[in-house]
Amino acid sequence: MLAPAQQHDMHTYLGLGSAPDAAAAKLGEPLYKQNCAACHGEDARGAQGPNLVRSTLVLHDEKGHDIGQVVKSGRPEGGMPAFPNLTDQQIYDIAEYLHVQVENAANRGLYNSLYSKQRSQTTGDPTKGRQFFAEHCASCHSATGDLAKIADKFPEAAEMQERFLWPASREPRRATVTTASGQTISGTILKIDDFDVSLRDAAGQMHEWPRDQVEVKLEDKLAGHRALLPVYKDADLHNLTAYLLTLK
Ligand code: HEC
Ligand code: HEC
Repeated sequence: MLAPAQQHDMHTYLGLGSAPDAAAAKLGEPLYKQNCAACHGEDARGAQGPNLVRSTLVLHDEKGHDIGQVVKSGRPEGGMPAFPNLTDQQIYDIAEYLHVQVENAANRGLYNSLYSKQRSQTTGDPTKGRQFFAEHCASCHSATGDLAKIADKFPEAAEMQERFLWPASREPRRATVTTASGQTISGTILKIDDFDVSLRDAAGQMHEWPRDQVEVKLEDKLAGHRALLPVYKDADLHNLTAYLLTLK
């Protein structure tokens, strides 16, 4: 069992929510720096105002809804001013910027310390873990295939748990672009910003378009893992970890 404080952190960790909108986050960055950074820190890790990367409210926010309520009305008695002049769009952009900070923090393993007490041991039941795996993981993974030797790679319980919860990779992202004429091209993103998008297709050829003339669909490789985050109960995590540690 996790200690209450750890349970709380686990809960917030599991609340990563839907994938942040990178384009909006980019627009939100200067707005955040201008309006919020003085109190919440350049990196949103807190200053005179609280750390927003670890705020439960921010973690649970969907599309700027909860953050927007705080920003619009403020919490005057707590030292948080109201920003009635920010538009809904601007608040959405700032919220997405904060969600990207949260995701970056999770990807960097900032939450490692969460599991320090159970780094190498787990109290889980591998038989129940196998059952959970069959129900929730086997559609994408196999215990005798891609994950056959996963315990060699992640021999510690804590590492294993972090890995399956959020297996972020540093591989380049992929996208599918639909052009004005309806042609679709998929490939690895070389560059994407407000003005241009360029990618390399499977044949190695480069393509580049003005951003506003095409439709870009970013591949969310971890959609399956994201969808599982709200599903796990504490016991599932321990059981699954115990089971995965037998795969060597
Ligand atoms: C003058 C300092 C100041 C500025 C500027 C400021 N904040 Fe705050 N903010 C605070 C303080 C202090 C709190 C804690 C208030 C409380 O909880 O009673 C807070 C709380 C919050 C919370 C709630 C966090 C939680 O966990 O409950 C959010 C979200 C937030 N601020 C977002 C923003 C955003 C977005 C901006 C910029 C648009 C911003 N703040 C600008 C000082 C500030
Ligand atoms: C919808 C498909 C899907 C489902 C369901 C899914 N995964 Fe994954 N999983 C992936 C993909 C895709 C990756 C690779 C991510 C990458 O490399 O960027 C991955 C990566 C992993 C890794 C990292 C492997 C390594 O070698 O580092 C582990 C461990 C893992 N998943 C375990 C699980 C477990 C346990 C479950 C069930 C609780 C699960 N996955 C459910 C698609 C899925």
